[in-house]
Amino acid sequence: MNLELSGRNYLVIAASKGLGFSVARELLREGACVMLSSSNAARLADAAERLWAEKLENFQTTVADLRNPADIDELVRETFNAFGRIDGFLTNCGGPPAGPPLEVTDEKWQLAFDSVFMSVVRLCRLIVPSMIELGGGSVLAITSTTVKQPIENLTTSNALRPAVVGYLRYLANEVAAKNVRVNAVAPGRILTERTQELDTALAARTGQSLDEVRSRSAEEIPMKRLGDISEFPALCAFLLSPRASYITGQTFCIDGGRVQSLW
Ligand SMILES: NC(=O)c1ccc[n+]([C@@H]2O[C@H](COP(=O)([O-])OP(=O)(O)OC[C@H]3O[C@@H](n4cnc5c(N)ncnc54)[C@H](OP(=O)(O)O)[C@@H]3O)[C@@H](O)[C@H]2O)c1
Repeated sequence: MNLELSGRNYLVIAASKGLGFSVARELLREGACVMLSSSNAARLADAAERLWAEKLENFQTTVADLRNPADIDELVRETFNAFGRIDGFLTNCGGPPAGPPLEVTDEKWQLAFDSVFMSVVRLCRLIVPSMIELGGGSVLAITSTTVKQPIENLTTSNALRPAVVGYLRYLANEVAAKNVRVNAVAPGRILTERTQELDTALAARTGQSLDEVRSRSAEEIPMKRLGDISEFPALCAFLLSPRASYITGQTFCIDGGRVQSLW
């Protein structure tokens, strides 16, 4: 399928590695122009090296901490300066602090709120009006399967990811008639550094080996394995593309069938 991304410009947040990077690379492979952003200049430089090694060159990078409103303002300004217009963007963030429900401190809640929720709101406020003016665009958010079903010890994600989807679902209604589409993807257990960190922490907390943690985790998934990162970005690129022109207000799980809800 030709996603018709040639000549289109995208901004991808939290894109130096993991899921965000995989989507930026997929968009580039499909012919789009991409601004990649993350908070760490060295990791962004490493991401750029990996893209150049694949002869993918139609991109720029900007360092921005998505918890900082001034950084987000500057990032969006730089993207408009570089590309002239933004046809779509992917919101994403580092995994929020973990912990049981009665132990997460105010400080950690605030960090998680700024990173998971406010970054999405701020990006939408800055970019969606220009999409309305242009006559269309696509917003996609990486969330988590916690929007459908809580995950043990991920209290901030269990509480704040559903808030993101609630915000986006309503935004989708408000802008649908202007041809701006708003969707979310909910990954579940796709192998990245984040999954590695969470599994290592769980192993330390419970006295299990990393292998035991992994196989228990795979047991909960109908496909009986964790996802490979190569299995994540195709749907995202499609949703960001004009080929998904009649899809809005939806949340799609990419989770090997893990979430059991019927909707
Ligand atoms: N992998 C999964 O199975 C899974 C499942 C459910 C939900 N998720 C969620 O999906 C998101 C991405 O997961 P992942 O597995 O790709 O994680 P990852 O490998 O840890 O990547 C996280 C990305 O976020 C960037 N980042 C972190 N803090 C940032 C900040 N303050 N400002 C800007 N960028 C920042 C990191 O770049 P820098 O360090 O360079 O800033 C990196 O590019 C996370 O929120 C995670 O909780 C993942």
